[in-house]
Amino acid sequence: MTTTEIESCIESAEENSLLYEEKSFDKRSEAIDFIEFQVLDPIEVLSQKSIQQDELVLLKDRAEKVIFELYKIDIKLFQKLKKTIRTKGLNATAFKSMVSEYFDFDLTYKKKVKETGYDNLDIFINGLLPCETIPEQAKPLEPEMVYYQKTPARIIFEIVEQAHFIKEDVFIDIGSGLGQVAILVNLLAGIKTKGIEFEPSFCSYATSCVMALKLPSVTFMNIDARKADYSEGTVFFMFTPFKGEMLQDVLEILRKESLLRKIRIITYGPCTAEVELQSWLRSAAPKNENMYKAAFFTSC
Ligand SMILES: C[S@@+](CC[C@H](N)C(=O)[O-])C[C@H]1O[C@@H](n2cnc3c(N)ncnc32)[C@H](O)[C@@H]1O
Repeated sequence: MTTTEIESCIESAEENSLLYEEKSFDKRSEAIDFIEFQVLDPIEVLSQKSIQQDELVLLKDRAEKVIFELYKIDIKLFQKLKKTIRTKGLNATAFKSMVSEYFDFDLTYKKKVKETGYDNLDIFINGLLPCETIPEQAKPLEPEMVYYQKTPARIIFEIVEQAHFIKEDVFIDIGSGLGQVAILVNLLAGIKTKGIEFEPSFCSYATSCVMALKLPSVTFMNIDARKADYSEGTVFFMFTPFKGEMLQDVLEILRKESLLRKIRIITYGPCTAEVELQSWLRSAAPKNENMYKAAFFTSC
């Protein structure tokens, strides 16, 4: 990339008024990404070999200023949205329509459905969560326990769309990490949700988030999933929290719960293959070969 090309990229971001409109969150995130990787990185490479140091310093300042201005809009936007959630106690329809003001799910989103991983919706949801300092894992995991990794936000939206929750449902995320799944399912479906998490610092983080957002129907318990109380749950979610015998032990606890009432299990990630082998469960949707799609099961 030449300095002229770099300058023209910066100029088009400076002059694109759409990016500076509050509603353009998705486009703004793409622009920030573009400037970071397609403008600042090449400036860095050029500055290691070029003699145009002064010009590069000016270009770098301009690019960083654009990023700063774009982030400033997002910071204000999230302050406003968090306040709305906190003070208006949004119902599921209002929350969904709030998010859809910033994401065109039909046009942009469903096209991306085959791709796995995280996208701008994750950045948006992170912005809505009020606690910024992410805690470190403090308690060592036992061998079959899986370390924290979050379910992509898009998958949670898809789960809520496909699960057809009823208002009596109680959703339990087994191995709830920082709490995003339980929080989002509550906001998107309006049902009571719970999280069960082994790591105390993750559990306190999740609890502080729900307190700050004033979401009384979301709770977190810091307990080993093998010892938790599942008696209230009707829908259980697992993004592979553990493997091997530990997974079998928890599935056995859920099987016993299923003798008392019909339950549903939603899985994401490699644990799906193990859950599929349970004879007391039937797949509630056509089998999906992609393990990075949610799978739905119902007790027989
Ligand atoms: C892959 S992460 C999933 C996090 C969250 N459910 C999500 O989807 O965003 C697995 C989580 O399970 C937790 N975990 C592992 N073993 C556990 C156990 N025996 N009881 C409760 N939580 C456990 C880990 O600490 C980690 O936060």
